[in-house]
Amino acid sequence: MRREMTTSSAEATRGVGRALGETVSAGAVVVLTGDLGAGKTVLAKGVAEGLGVAEEVTSPTFNILLVHEGRVELAHFDLYRLEREAELEDIDFWGVLESGAACLVEWGDRFPDALPPDALTVSISITGDESRRIDVKASGPRSEALAQAWIEASAGLPGVAVVPGERSP
Ligand SMILES: Nc1ncnc2c1ncn2[C@@H]1O[C@H](COP(=O)(O)OP(=O)(O)O)[C@@H](O)[C@H]1O
Ligand SMILES: [Mg+2]
Repeated sequence: MRREMTTSSAEATRGVGRALGETVSAGAVVVLTGDLGAGKTVLAKGVAEGLGVAEEVTSPTFNILLVHEGRVELAHFDLYRLEREAELEDIDFWGVLESGAACLVEWGDRFPDALPPDALTVSISITGDESRRIDVKASGPRSEALAQAWIEASAGLPGVAVVPGERSP
């Protein structure tokens, strides 16, 4: 399933992230992609807020993985600096994915074979100074249910528009 949303400000993207954090459950895997400056960190901060994470959330670029306590534990990966898929073992990638934490994987698209079959992929594209397109792709029943609930929760937020209907693949 593919759906699409647009946001007209950073605050709107953060709101969409907050809705995702409020909707996500233990063990969910969300892959986050988009060019530099697209808004991945803005969205991730919203997810953390929605999960009730108290501490400041930044991109774990230099750490690869940062874990935060929240309503559900948030495991925030940034795979940008990894060179080979084998390095995922060094950070216990699959162990963390199965630990019950809600997993947010920035640049997860770099290692598509390493991802679980049922994951939600969120791709942010820059469409203007303040506007972004957020493509949502679910690849299994679990991520599909998450996508439905998330889009429903985002639809009424200020600065957010949900493009009606499903996108073609
Ligand atoms: N609609 C929008 N959604 C997200 N960010 C936006 C939007 N409009 C402008 N911005 C700006 O774009 C930048 C996104 O930065 P950031 O989240 O760090 O990107 P990334 O982590 O993808 O490299 C921020 O400076 C933010 O204020
Ligand atoms: Mg970032």
